[in-house]
Amino acid sequence: MSIAKAARAHKRQLGQFLTPSALAAQLIASLELTIHDRVLEPSMGDGAFILPLIEKFMALYDGPMTERLAQVLQRNVYGVELDATLYARCLEAIRRRWDALPAQHNLVRGDFFRHHFAARNGDSSAPAFTIIVGNPPFGGAFDPALQDDLDRVYGFRNGAKIKKETYAFFIVKSLDLLAPGGRLRFICSDTFLTINTMRGLRRYLMQQGEVSIRTLGEFSDETNHPMVVLDFVKSGAAEAITVDGVRTPRSQIELTANFSWRIAADLARYFAGPRLGDFMIASSGMTVGRNAYFVRKIEDGKIVEPYRFEFFDDPITLEQEVKRARLGRLSPRQVEKIRRLEAAGATRRNVRIVARSQPLTLAAPHPDYCYYNKGAPTIVYAPPTHVIYWKDEGDAVLTFKKNGNWYLHGVGGQPYFKREGLTWQLIARRLYTRYLPPGYILDSGAPCAFLRPGVAPDELYFILGWTLTRLCNRLLKEVINHTRNIQSKDFERLPYPWWVAAPDKAVAIAHVKQMVVAAQQGERFTPESQEIAVLEGYFSHTINAPATHVGGGA
Ligand SMILES: C[S@@+](CC[C@H](N)C(=O)[O-])C[C@H]1O[C@@H](n2cnc3c(N)ncnc32)[C@H](O)[C@@H]1O
Repeated sequence: MSIAKAARAHKRQLGQFLTPSALAAQLIASLELTIHDRVLEPSMGDGAFILPLIEKFMALYDGPMTERLAQVLQRNVYGVELDATLYARCLEAIRRRWDALPAQHNLVRGDFFRHHFAARNGDSSAPAFTIIVGNPPFGGAFDPALQDDLDRVYGFRNGAKIKKETYAFFIVKSLDLLAPGGRLRFICSDTFLTINTMRGLRRYLMQQGEVSIRTLGEFSDETNHPMVVLDFVKSGAAEAITVDGVRTPRSQIELTANFSWRIAADLARYFAGPRLGDFMIASSGMTVGRNAYFVRKIEDGKIVEPYRFEFFDDPITLEQEVKRARLGRLSPRQVEKIRRLEAAGATRRNVRIVARSQPLTLAAPHPDYCYYNKGAPTIVYAPPTHVIYWKDEGDAVLTFKKNGNWYLHGVGGQPYFKREGLTWQLIARRLYTRYLPPGYILDSGAPCAFLRPGVAPDELYFILGWTLTRLCNRLLKEVINHTRNIQSKDFERLPYPWWVAAPDKAVAIAHVKQMVVAAQQGERFTPESQEIAVLEGYFSHTINAPATHVGGGA
């Protein structure tokens, strides 16, 4: 690896996006400090927050500068940083700025998750900080030796899961360290306002105090990821949050299945009825592990197969099993069992992928292959573009996965393989939803949804039409998940258009059916097509009129 690449990997691993000093200074300037405050910066980097903090505290003391500096660093300012270079840069910046660095201070080089803060004045109770500020690592990696332990300590609060993400665990540990009435002010990724995996963190924050969020127009050149300032006061359970000056009551937040902090008052009403998940069950697809072995593009109606697949009995060895295990770890019991199997010469069925001297050319469709549902930015319907080698119900693919690393063992979406449904592209700025005919094997890049038992078949077309509207996409990207991923559960959390009156619903279904047939005959639709504009009218809001809720029963 080149030095630049290694440096980039190191930065990514530690979630290092340093705060521009003007922004950090601004966030410190508006804090009200007294000499009794104890302020922590748990991932201080090269000191963007630490320097203005010291400066502000020093103004509260009298006496010679070096004495004031020592007092501040011994009584008021605490910091932790994992990266030795940034830590040294932080200390150097203090030395340069004040021409001194007291021998005793509370700026520690270490891992925030391993660091235990000593109690003050011999007090054995948990030391509390009155203020915690900073910009915790975003998307950073955890020390593998600590991962599972951290999950046990910080991974659950109030009966809800806290996502194993560095900034989420930084927030949870910081809340533990914060004194009652204390303030936490963090720069964070804006993803935590809506994504479902951060739901537990949002609940926990509201259970602990008052939350106020401010969107940062611009953060820094280092990342174009949208960031926010989370301002939190540990004042006990709160009934509302404030986002960019607007108060949102908990009752509105609770309407959304993801406990969204981006539920605007004009959107809340759509969530007052059933969800798509009441009508359809959505699922992600499968990760093959090595598409090149099994997935082929259909070109001119032909499949070109460069490989043969040979099954064989592979001896079980401890070395191999350790390589496949999660984090390379096996329990003593598993190790003992594998040793026994190895000694007995046990084997596992495996598959070998052998290059053919001459690739085979086959006509598609072919009985040894199934259509493979890859994600694509197309709506309504798209002809199949890929196939997967699926002889004997995917024996070769499933055997390959079973013998691969632990994360390949599950077969995502398997119960739904070959079923008729809807599908969309996983990573997209909007829903590219299309009709999925029966017979496909499902890829992880294109989640799918299938009617629940007993739901009328026409609901598939009604829901397809709804997901193509601007309103539905607004609800998805503003309230449910504003990242670029559209997971299966995000789809289930969308409101079902319960407000559409029966006659409009019937017309909408007929319209979408016609579009699907036209697309199967070669017509291409885009979100800008006139036919989609027509759809908007059927789903436009008529909540104030008596809404006929045409239910999902067949
Ligand atoms: C987003 S940067 C922000 C740094 C600094 N607070 C600022 O605003 O400029 C996150 C910092 O966390 C540090 N870091 C990552 N994991 C850490 C850990 N477990 N304990 C302490 N610091 C950590 C990184 O090295 C990096 O300096």
